[in-house]
Amino acid sequence: MNKILVTGGCGYIGVHTIVDLVQNGYEVISVDNNSRSNIAILEGAEKIVGKKIKNYVVDLCNLKDTEMVFEENKDITGIIHFAAYKAVGESVEKPLMYYENNIGSLVNILKCAEKYAISNFVFSSSCTVYGNPDAIPVTEETPQKPAESPYGATKQMGEVIVCDAVKSNTIQAILLRYFNPVGSHPSTLIGEIPLGRPANLVPAITQTAIGKLPTMHVWGNDYDTRDGSCLRDYIHVCDIAHAHTLALNLLFGKQNKVNPEIFNLGTGDGFTVLEVIHAFEKTSGVKLNYTVGPRRGGDVVAIYANNNKAKTELNWQPKYSLDQMMDSAWKWELALQKA
Ligand code: WQD
Repeated sequence: MNKILVTGGCGYIGVHTIVDLVQNGYEVISVDNNSRSNIAILEGAEKIVGKKIKNYVVDLCNLKDTEMVFEENKDITGIIHFAAYKAVGESVEKPLMYYENNIGSLVNILKCAEKYAISNFVFSSSCTVYGNPDAIPVTEETPQKPAESPYGATKQMGEVIVCDAVKSNTIQAILLRYFNPVGSHPSTLIGEIPLGRPANLVPAITQTAIGKLPTMHVWGNDYDTRDGSCLRDYIHVCDIAHAHTLALNLLFGKQNKVNPEIFNLGTGDGFTVLEVIHAFEKTSGVKLNYTVGPRRGGDVVAIYANNNKAKTELNWQPKYSLDQMMDSAWKWELALQKA
């Protein structure tokens, strides 16, 4: 059984990926300092998979502490690196904190991959690397425009760093560019736990609908889109999670055609902010209290994925519709309220 180290394993995408990995026969350990996550989320994962998940509370920016995890687990055969700060707005206010954390932790985990001869590496990248694309949908070959935020810049730099590590023959890697992960596991035992006021659209919707927030704002309806609000490719977090299992399968099977392989993880459909709100209202039966506010700095106008490469080479097929994404997000918000 291959043992995978998942950094950021207590995070939203990390915990869903751990569930998918274990259900597909992998052994998993997590490394997460819980600075932006809640370790309690692993209890939900353990209930789903029926086994304990060990988390090492380690700051990946501390190389010695990170190496200790590998000293204790000499049988790690693969790494999935999620751990990073990811709030676009915060990154604009605190760029140096983002560079120190997101780049520092990546360099350290790659140093450990090299030192402990772990050659299978999956990097959590993002559609933010495309910036504001000239044409949509974007393919993996779409040229990268300047990042719209320091967060996006850390993902662009992260991809360069992983590519250079590949060139030095230390790892074989896959870069997964997520579009907008939303929703939660059908069990409602795991889901997204935003810290403070949610910056992202879907938790802002569900928290407003349940009354945690008095209202929410649509950041701009004067864009050049079909209804004036920004367009994104929303993808269910369970579809994203399964892509990580398929990526590791590809690496272990040495079936990747190039090194690194890069895959867009989106549905291939774009929806506007207002369309997402209307889909939520339809599936939940809750009328949402929102107002239209000014544009948000750093926002890309419109982006969605050409996902053909992931479909053919990863044998990946997104399963969830927008309505199902909204339904699962709402069910998670209701479950959180009961907790
Ligand atoms: C989507 C749209 C907002 C909140 C995210 C993550 C980033 C990366 C990519 C993974 C925008 C609008 C939002 C609100 C709104 N993920 N919005 N009112 O900015 O595309 O980036 O996905 O790497 O980490 O942040 O997602 O959900 O913040 O915004 O109108 O209260 O919803 O303006 O147009 P974004 P988002």
